[in-house]
Amino acid sequence: MPKKIAVLPGDGIGPEIVAEALKVLSFINADMGLGLSFETALVGGAAYDAFGTPLPQQTLNLCKNADAVLLGAVGGPKWEPLAHAVRPERGLLGIRSELNLFSNLRPAILYPQLVHASTLKPEVVSGLDLMIVRELTGGIYFGQPRGIHIAESGEKVGANTEIYSESEIRRIAHSAFRIAQKRHKRLCSVDKANVLEVTELWRNVMTEVGKDYPDVELSHMYVDNAAMQLVRAPKQFDVIVTTNMFGDILSDVAAMLTGSIGMLPSASLDANAKGMYEPIHGSAPDIAGQGIANPLATILSVAMMLRYTFNQPEAAERIEAAVNAALDSNVRTADIYSDGMTQVSTSGMGDAVLKALQG
Ligand code: NAD
Ligand code: IPM
Ligand code: MN
Repeated sequence: MPKKIAVLPGDGIGPEIVAEALKVLSFINADMGLGLSFETALVGGAAYDAFGTPLPQQTLNLCKNADAVLLGAVGGPKWEPLAHAVRPERGLLGIRSELNLFSNLRPAILYPQLVHASTLKPEVVSGLDLMIVRELTGGIYFGQPRGIHIAESGEKVGANTEIYSESEIRRIAHSAFRIAQKRHKRLCSVDKANVLEVTELWRNVMTEVGKDYPDVELSHMYVDNAAMQLVRAPKQFDVIVTTNMFGDILSDVAAMLTGSIGMLPSASLDANAKGMYEPIHGSAPDIAGQGIANPLATILSVAMMLRYTFNQPEAAERIEAAVNAALDSNVRTADIYSDGMTQVSTSGMGDAVLKALQG
């Protein structure tokens, strides 16, 4: 049975970076006889323009019937005036929710070649290797009630609800503890338990689940402190587990520690390791269409796909080694450029990774 991958390029730089990731994946597929097949569909603003919805039924069906989803990015100024229910971002959120992709892994690894691309001092970031485990299908992103309504006073009121059940917290806790067991066995749960009851429950459940993992050292940190600590001394962290919203914000902070948001891949997994793979960045409307976006986060997301969904660690390692070799050859997209390097386009970077793979 061929393994099917749903390919959703999306909007903005999405199609540009996905094209490079597919270059790499197609090569490794043929070279290693992985038997992967691909089918492309529209999502986000592109789907709205064609079908009036950011998540057409045929796209959702394709994702449900596929073994994995590769997504570029969605959104852009063109669709900002739309009602929230049909905004491009809802297409992405719909896939996460419909496929039950509750466990979002966002690894922040600093490649030594990019030490000087980070805005932080080399000694602060060199050797950085941390994993953020973000809860992805609950919390304030999905809680009810939500919306903008007219209050009794006659003025408009906007509301969203941060809500987590014990079972939602428990399953992301288990994901995070298992990941920590395979790493340096230190898990930091980030919350705002001093103010928000919902994260007091979060903290209690984390502590309770922690009893099943005596080999993992669990700590707790408030999110404001965690944001500061990530910039002050990021290497103190091994694995961070946090809510949907806090994870969104902290992973963008972590991205910059690695030199650029264009370097951070992600895996969004269900209970059976079926998953969606995407860079953590967005559609970058400010640089879309210029061929200058960094495709490495998307290429590294493909490596995560091979590792987590297709259980092909060797193929994943080959891609990661090829990214490393491409950086060794001193090619850089604009976002990670520094003096003395060779600046390349999006496809130039994809070609450099491909060349390294071809050996
Ligand atoms: P963004 O991540 O798209 O861009 C932030 C900044 O980082 C921009 O200056 C951009 O040029 C730069 N950047 C991002 N990716 C890059 C890459 N690969 N190479 C080089 N530079 C890169 O965030 P934003 O501007 O806040 O959002 C733009 C749109 O993307 C919005 O519609 C937002 O909702 C959407 N978005 C989508 C996703 C997603 O699809 N997963 C994630 C975040 C934002
Ligand atoms: C991300 C993005 C999304 C999120 C948006 C586009 C819905 O910022 O994947 O980090 O907030 O989860
Ligand atoms: Mn984000």
